[in-house]
Amino acid sequence: MAAHLGCHNIADLRKKARRRLPLGVWEYLERGVEDELGLARNRAAFDALTVRPRVLRGVDKIDTACEILGISAPLPLAIAPTGAAGMMWHEGDLALARAAAEAGVPFTISSASTMDIEQIATAGGRRWFQLYLWENRALSHAVMDRAASMGCDTLMVTLDLPVPPNREYILRNGFATPFKLNPRNIADVLLHPRWLTGVMGRYALSGGIPTQANLPDQLRAKVTQGAMPGAFFKQDDLDWAGVSELRRRWPGKFILKGVLHPDDARRALDTGADGVVVSNHGGRALDCSIASIDALPAIVAAVGNRSAVILDSGVRRGSDIAKALALGADFVMVGRAPLYGLSAFGQAGVERALEILRTELVRTMAMMGARSIGELRQSLS
Ligand code: GLV
Repeated sequence: MAAHLGCHNIADLRKKARRRLPLGVWEYLERGVEDELGLARNRAAFDALTVRPRVLRGVDKIDTACEILGISAPLPLAIAPTGAAGMMWHEGDLALARAAAEAGVPFTISSASTMDIEQIATAGGRRWFQLYLWENRALSHAVMDRAASMGCDTLMVTLDLPVPPNREYILRNGFATPFKLNPRNIADVLLHPRWLTGVMGRYALSGGIPTQANLPDQLRAKVTQGAMPGAFFKQDDLDWAGVSELRRRWPGKFILKGVLHPDDARRALDTGADGVVVSNHGGRALDCSIASIDALPAIVAAVGNRSAVILDSGVRRGSDIAKALALGADFVMVGRAPLYGLSAFGQAGVERALEILRTELVRTMAMMGARSIGELRQSLS
């Protein structure tokens, strides 16, 4: 059982994370793009969804076991890829991966992670790799090959950031890469001494400021330096032929993330994908995008009987997981929820976040009269 940590729900973990992190790191975790309507829309869409519970079903035993991309798992959930976890906690990616392994759920390593795949792999557990492409495609191919050799059984290619997102807050808070000190962020960092000593101080003692660790050596730069030419992700020219090439190269399961249109979902399957993640990048890409949960039913109708359909963006409660599955998703991905736990308490906080979601899901299923994931799935369709 995860330690309680004085947090009853994900919102409690969020509050603790907010207090611990300097503004720039907090805003990277929390904020959306432009007017942040997409961020709010994800939540509003979940909140507007209701269920029609069934009674007298004998719900004394609730089983949340399911299959995630062909392998059994205790919970219909995976940890989504998120960048900058290493700025939220010392070696944050490893803490996330360890908590996921402990809970028996997959962890997705981000292309933008500040820890090397090899280091993260020491956590054990099931690991996936999320891919962004560099202009020099050979770099991406080399990173993919490494991920496969480090035991990542699934590649998740993110499609919903063909161009950089409009995160205006980064221009103001000074926490862009390269990270430059200015009067506002110096004061802010000094006001967060636990972060300064517990995160940056530990890096300073243990060999230095993090880099984009999954880049080839010659392109790596510290977060306090400008990126080397060629080190930026660039996939505005990626098309279905490019995706087919990646599919051919990757030996394991192949998932496309950021699919919101049923025609794209069908095309993904035709291209050999094993599934799609219905996601608007947690409201961090296109502000006027449809909420993922609103896009889900049409995608389930188009491809749900032939492939995995995964719901991402906005999950903060076990009841959100129940709603997504009741609409036909196979499982969900969570990004911010574990990061709140990570930022507040490290691995123990991630474990707590997963435990909160699990107990909330179990209670919701009992209240709905769904004893198993099979009974829950598609109960709203
Ligand atoms: C990267 O994928 C981000 O959302 O910051």
